Amino acid sequence: MSLHLGDTAPDFTVPTSEGEISLHEWSGDSWVFFFSHPADFTPVCTTEMGMTAKHSADFKARNVKPLGLSTDTVEEHLKWIGDVNETQHTTIDFPIVADADLKIAKMYDMIHPDESATAAVRSVFIIDPDNKIRLTMTYPMNVGRNFDEIIRVIDALQTADKKGVALPANWEPGAEAIVPLNVSTEEAKEKYPDLKVLKPYLRITKDY
Ligand code: BEZ
Repeated sequence: MSLHLGDTAPDFTVPTSEGEISLHEWSGDSWVFFFSHPADFTPVCTTEMGMTAKHSADFKARNVKPLGLSTDTVEEHLKWIGDVNETQHTTIDFPIVADADLKIAKMYDMIHPDESATAAVRSVFIIDPDNKIRLTMTYPMNVGRNFDEIIRVIDALQTADKKGVALPANWEPGAEAIVPLNVSTEEAKEKYPDLKVLKPYLRITKDY
């Protein structure tokens, strides 16, 4: 199934390393960082799980719940979590979906046959509190994701929602923002006293 930005994230009920969850009920009023990885007991995945745990306070501060997935069983997840915590010096405090029958991986188009017929690639779905898919990323099996970017893009999505601005390349919190094209320059000048109009379509402000 091909999922697009703005689609409702398909709901599912599934066993995880922390018991059975139903996605929409479990996420409640939170954002969700839903990410798949190819397999338990593999090296790149081990570092990604550790990195997710290391960013636990960052996710909490942003009202984001991490949710991992691989096409392994709960028993395998639980054993592997021990290895992750031992080698990455972490405490995994988020559930990992046990998708041994590939049901959820297929639902979310996480199986890319040229990479593997049975293991998920490294997909990311950022899902908002209305259960809408707001961002997707797909990484291959042999390259780990950048968790600073995952946190940055969550900040960008939440800032865009709250402040009604757009965010430029490499934006970080506190940096200049862009006035969206559907706001007139007159309106923008009233709203943002520091407005810089570089071009009629490129108007920037730090005062948002
Ligand atoms: C890894 O996590 O290291 C990995 C998993 C599956 C294929 C290739 C790499």
